Amino acid sequence: MRYSTSTTSTPLLSDDVTQPDIKQLNFIQTNAAMSFEDAVTDAIDDVTSAPDEQPLSAAVVFGCQAEEKVKKKVKMQGGSSPENVTAGGDANQFTSTVVMMSAGNGRPTSGLKPSPSVGTSLESLAKSEADQNDNVSPWIMGEAWERFYKSFVYYKDKPVGTLAALDPSADALNYNQVFVRDFIPSGLACLMKPSKEGLDMVKNFLLKTLHLQGNWEKMIDNFTLGEGVMPASFKVQYKPGLQKDVLEPDFGGTAIGRVAPVDSGFWWIILLKSYTKCTGNHSLAESPAAQRGMKLILNLCLADGFDTFPTLLCADGCCMIDRRMGMYGYPIEIQALFFFALRCARQLLIPEHGNKELIERIDKRITALSYHIQKYYWLDFIQLNNIYRYKTEEYSHTAVNKFNVIPESIPDWVFDFMPLRGGYFIGNLSPSRMDFRWFLVGNCIAILSSLATPAQATAIMDLIEERWSELIGDMPLKISYPALEGHQWKIVTGCDPKNTRWSYHNGGSWPVLLWLLTAACIKTGRPQIAKKAIELAEQRLARDGWPEYYDGKTGHFVGKQARKYQTWSISGYLVAKLMIENPSNLRFISLEEDKKIAQPRLNRSGSWSS
Ligand code: GLC
Repeated sequence: MRYSTSTTSTPLLSDDVTQPDIKQLNFIQTNAAMSFEDAVTDAIDDVTSAPDEQPLSAAVVFGCQAEEKVKKKVKMQGGSSPENVTAGGDANQFTSTVVMMSAGNGRPTSGLKPSPSVGTSLESLAKSEADQNDNVSPWIMGEAWERFYKSFVYYKDKPVGTLAALDPSADALNYNQVFVRDFIPSGLACLMKPSKEGLDMVKNFLLKTLHLQGNWEKMIDNFTLGEGVMPASFKVQYKPGLQKDVLEPDFGGTAIGRVAPVDSGFWWIILLKSYTKCTGNHSLAESPAAQRGMKLILNLCLADGFDTFPTLLCADGCCMIDRRMGMYGYPIEIQALFFFALRCARQLLIPEHGNKELIERIDKRITALSYHIQKYYWLDFIQLNNIYRYKTEEYSHTAVNKFNVIPESIPDWVFDFMPLRGGYFIGNLSPSRMDFRWFLVGNCIAILSSLATPAQATAIMDLIEERWSELIGDMPLKISYPALEGHQWKIVTGCDPKNTRWSYHNGGSWPVLLWLLTAACIKTGRPQIAKKAIELAEQRLARDGWPEYYDGKTGHFVGKQARKYQTWSISGYLVAKLMIENPSNLRFISLEEDKKIAQPRLNRSGSWSS
């Protein structure tokens, strides 16, 4: 019994404890909040008026009393067909689904009460806490907008992006550049509070980065990059020879560690979709240049190679975590962004323009990718127990333990971390390797793109609520959990002094992630969680000078090397506020579940299908 070596608490997995025979999910329907009806109706009207899209989900729906408008939808699922978790069908249904696991002998149980955030409307929360926040919040918002405007970067007198940070007290390094990934919350803030300058900036950003993508030839140590790569960042540089400013991109060629920005192209496509949705103007997305740009990005990712998985193979440091952190292989952040971008591109590509074959490839990949992630990356209590009991060295198509994961490789912390209610997509999966770490970006993007099934999305929110002190702590919110320490830190990070335990990418807390959490909370009908997190951030963020990240197990300390006035800490906060104040803003960054994605659909745990 390996678990007996654990120093902590309940021996969940001892030999004499029978594996819970969990055969049912109770779907408890909660009612929708009248207070958000208008916002939601707006959102739904908007979505349903777009022929290429599904109606907005249950998600932008909040629990409370609105009996007449609510179409009751209570589902009980048996073990044989657990897939039919649906998220409120037509546009006028206001449903929200809460999943309860039964934890004993196949009988539904009342043992687990609904998570605290389930069924409380944001309105009632707002009322009870209005007094204490009303004084602070507008001031912080004002300061945030002011600093945000100061970060604008101009090229030929037009705004083209935002600086990564504006910290006069620290060496600029490349923080004086416009990073593609950092610009996403900036762009969303401009879309959610539209102004002419803001909308122009988003459009210019999309066009300029597109131009840089096409600007060959770029070499890194004499290897040309694949055509279609989007830069990690760019800066406006005065060229004395030319006597003018030029835009100078960085594709990782000068970045620390020479890391490749695999996420940039995906974020670019996602932002193009958001821009199109917000403005209702399809001319940019339908322009030959944008169509070509999308095609190049996708061709790179859909090219045949030696892969046996539908996931995308990457080197370490290929995304927001752009240093060595054991992310090589198939990191969840990239897989979720890949899925999101595929779905956005699927809606933006014009079939008549020679894209038929590409669209077929996209459809196939979307199906295979969602199956793979939903089934093999998913971890909850039941699935953990299954893996714990895995047989190894199985051969042939009938193998249960397909990747030959050795149970002894499950780290002890997972047994303590995994609550009875809740689950998440693990960090990485390849032969005999499951990286059990929690990564926030991948999990939230999975919710926003509807890569996670509604039941999985609910379970992810349950986990965040159950593990509040670990994942939110004093400052929202952990980029990864837990931290790598000691020998593991040495071998996995290469003794990286910036990524020491509970710092930076290694279990540090990043305020920018607030916007992703808020979007996911609204989509799953749990805005209270976001509201609580935002209030925590408001206590310190402005006062501490909008740091890039916080350190410590609970995120109590301003990060050791954190830049101050980090733009995405500011814009991430703004986007979170703009969404919590007006939940219909979610529609710019969320895709409804696509019922056409081929079966089999999966539920929370692979164990259900057996
Ligand atoms: C750091 C972060 C990266 C971010 C960049 C600019 O390198 O790891 O995600 O894009 O700073 O803020």
